[in-house]
Amino acid sequence: MMKNFLVVVFLILIALVGSVYTLPQNSESKDVKMNRVDKKILIVYFSWSQNTKSIAEKIQKQVGGDLFFIEPDILYPSDYNKLAYGIAKEQKDKDIRPPLKNKINIKSYDIIFVGTPVWWHTMAPVIKTFLSENNFAEKTIIPFITHGGGGSYNITNEMLELAKGCKILSPLIVYEDGGNNIDKNILQWLNNLFSKK
Ligand SMILES: Cc1cc2nc3c(=O)[nH]c(=O)nc-3n(C[C@H](O)[C@H](O)[C@H](O)COP(=O)(O)O)c2cc1C
Repeated sequence: MMKNFLVVVFLILIALVGSVYTLPQNSESKDVKMNRVDKKILIVYFSWSQNTKSIAEKIQKQVGGDLFFIEPDILYPSDYNKLAYGIAKEQKDKDIRPPLKNKINIKSYDIIFVGTPVWWHTMAPVIKTFLSENNFAEKTIIPFITHGGGGSYNITNEMLELAKGCKILSPLIVYEDGGNNIDKNILQWLNNLFSKK
């Protein structure tokens, strides 16, 4: 009887120690996810094979804001070669700005994260359409760029050219989906951006 009582007391003690130990960890992870800026945030992106999409979603988890997929009016082929050596090459060579399927009014936003995969050494054509169709005066653009090994080329400067009047901050440049360290790298990038004035 006494033995059973002692076992119960022992188990209660372990449960108490366990809950006290986990409390600080929970509150810490909440801090990491809190919104770090009081501006209105929009995260727009284009993604064909989902790498840029996954980065967009991770950024949203950290900073909040609205997420918007910039979609072309036509469907791109799902076959890489057909896409890359067909319509993507043609749009790049002729500097075509394909019409968008859905539009978003950016007027009420202060900070706009703009995500694009590298397509033929530059941003995806639909991102060119989005940047040239909207008024970016007084807006801050934060690019995030995913690539297949070539880096970000001159994309940040090209964005600055297209989005007339915007201020542009340091881009996040990611190889494919960013691999195992991507969460840490995103957090570090965001902390650097928002700790600077
Ligand atoms: C049409 C096309 C062109 C590409 N051109 C380049 C390029 O010039 N340089 C490069 O590093 N990667 C290039 N890539 C690879 C993509 O940039 C890379 O896989 C990116 O992460 C894909 O993003 P997504 O999954 O969001 O579509 C190209 C991919 C496609 C589909």
